[in-house]
Parts: sequence; structure tokens; C-alpha cells
Amino acid sequence: MSTITLAQYLNQGVTAGHFDQALARLLQGMADESQDISENIHRGALAGVLGSAGSENVQGETQKKLDIIANDAILAAMEKTGVVAASASEELDDCSVYAGAEERPYLILFDPLDGSSNIDVNVSIGTIFSVLNNPRTGPVTNQTFLQPGTSQVAAGYVVYGPQTTLVLTTGHGVDGFTLDRAAGEYVQTSVNIQIPADTKEFAINMSNVRHWYAPVKRYIDECLAGKTGPRGKDFNMRWIASMVADVHRVLCRGGTFMYPQDQREPGKPGKLRLMYEANPISFIVEQAGGKSYAGAQRILDIQPTDLHQRCSVLLGSANEITIVHGYHLDNSKD
Ligand code: AHG
Ligand code: MN
Ligand code: MN
Repeated sequence: MSTITLAQYLNQGVTAGHFDQALARLLQGMADESQDISENIHRGALAGVLGSAGSENVQGETQKKLDIIANDAILAAMEKTGVVAASASEELDDCSVYAGAEERPYLILFDPLDGSSNIDVNVSIGTIFSVLNNPRTGPVTNQTFLQPGTSQVAAGYVVYGPQTTLVLTTGHGVDGFTLDRAAGEYVQTSVNIQIPADTKEFAINMSNVRHWYAPVKRYIDECLAGKTGPRGKDFNMRWIASMVADVHRVLCRGGTFMYPQDQREPGKPGKLRLMYEANPISFIVEQAGGKSYAGAQRILDIQPTDLHQRCSVLLGSANEITIVHGYHLDNSKD
């Protein structure tokens, strides 16, 4: 096991020609800021950061204090890197454009705090981010961010759990780092993470079963039928309700994670957001050998039309996702 720090890892990536010095600065800036967020979360009530902020975000969700603290901290950290032209976030109606944006090479989108319902009950939460090129063809607006997931140059997440873990991809596999609190830096603890292709574990909010469309219902029914059903094996279920933590489990030991579109609001394709939740996580999952679909369509191929658009999500172990994806393809033929 290599014991290099994140800083050394980023230097190696630049030397190997995987990415440039500017991207290394951006990633180090995000990692450094996540240490402060981790410290606030770690102290919880002692730092006075729990509870509601009493405001709503653009999606009409109540904001927690930590949603806002993390959002403001990352916004400032990204500006300070000098290489980020603009930031877009779950907690901002429109992107925030920095001075000198025309010359700055990257755009970033983030979910500053994922799993907000878990903040106050001491359950794992996280930060998710997606990096795009700034085309530098004119002023940066919301429109500049509307690039498909295949255009991402880097993506990552931090899980604030029993350990604080950073997982990164720049399109050359997926690597993992653990925060060494005493040293104040991330140390590489996983190399080229691969999601096992087979699994007997799924993650889905079962309380929505009555709202699901036929393909997801069929897949889960067959899992629930266990050994004597069509799948011939028993399945286990997990649901943390922080996408980042559920997905991290999938990366560590395999599994599937689904938040499908359902019949409640036909105009709203699912709960999760494409640009700062589904896209970065899908980039990581595919780089780790898994699959990620929004039903019949590959998530990374979706051409976005709105910064905050929703997206159905079915991802994880390749052989299982191939089955549920197949049910969606059958359905779209009907
Ligand atoms: P956020 O806290 O950023 O709004 O995201 C919460 C998301 C996701 O992380 C999680 O998987 C899902 O919402 C949980 O949904 P349920 O409350 O329906 O279980
Ligand atoms: Mn989220
Ligand atoms: Mn969030």
C-alpha cells in the first residue's frame, strides 16, 4: 500500500500528464476546505452548527446551518484557488462568477452537504463535486455549465463518517484518501478502486414502492423473492439516505443504489440532481467499473438543460445494473 499524501499524488498526476497544475490546485483547494467542514461536523453541537438555518434553497428545501456553512466555505475556497471561473451549487439559484473568470480554466459544481437529513442525528454525510472546463469563449453564465457528464475533467466526493474519506477521479481510475487529522492532510489509502460486478445488496427507499414504474418494481420484486425466486439468491438491503455514503459502500464492497423517477410528479424525473449529484457520482462509478443509468439512458450522456434539473439514478455493480437497465429497455420498446 502506497502511503503518499494527496499533495504528492497530485504532483505525480501532473508529472504523468494526467492533468495540469491548475486542476491540481483546484483539487487540493477542495480537499483543504473539506478538512474544515469535517472539523465542524466532528464538533457538531459544540461548534453550534447543527439545526435548521430557517431558509429555503432554490428547490424549496429547508436549509440546515451546515448546508450554508459548507456552501459559503467552498465558494470562497474555489475563488482562492485562482483557477476556478465560477461555482454552481445546490444552495445557489444561479452560478457565482469570480473576478477574472474569462481567464480561469475550470468550472465547478457541488453539493456542499449531501444527506442533510442525517446531519443532526450523527449519521454519515458528504460533499460531492464535478469539474468542467471553462470554454473561455465569453462571459460565464449558467448556460456555460450545461455540459454533459462525459465532459467532466474530474469528480470527487468526501464522506464525513467514522473516517473522513476523499474519493477522486480525473478519468484515470478512482483513488481513495483518508484524512489524517493529526497531520492535517489526506493520505492515499485506496488505489484504483473497482466495484465488484456481482452483488446481493441493494439500496433504495422502499417506502416509495407504490409509486415506482414497472421496470424498477420488477427488479426489486425479483430481488425480494430471494433464493426460490427468479434470481435464485437472497438479497440484503441498506439505505443510509445520504447518497454519498450509500455510494461509498457500493464502491467498497459492491451493491446497487437507486433513486428512480416515480409516478408522483411526472414532470420531475426523480429526486437527485443531475449536475452536482448524479453526474459526478456516475463518472466515479463508471471509472470504477460500475454502471450508471437514468432508466434506459446512460446518465453521463444526458444533455443538461438546467443547472438544477433532476435525474433518475440506477447505479452500481455492473451485472445487476445491466439487468435493471435491460428491464427499462424492454419497457421503452412497448
Ligand atoms: P441533499 O441532502 O443534498 O438534499 O440530498 C439528499 C438526497 C440523497 O443524498 C439521498 O440519497 C436522498 O436524498 C434521501 O432521500 P429520502 O429522504 O427520500 O430517503
Ligand atoms: Mn445531495
Ligand atoms: Mn445538499
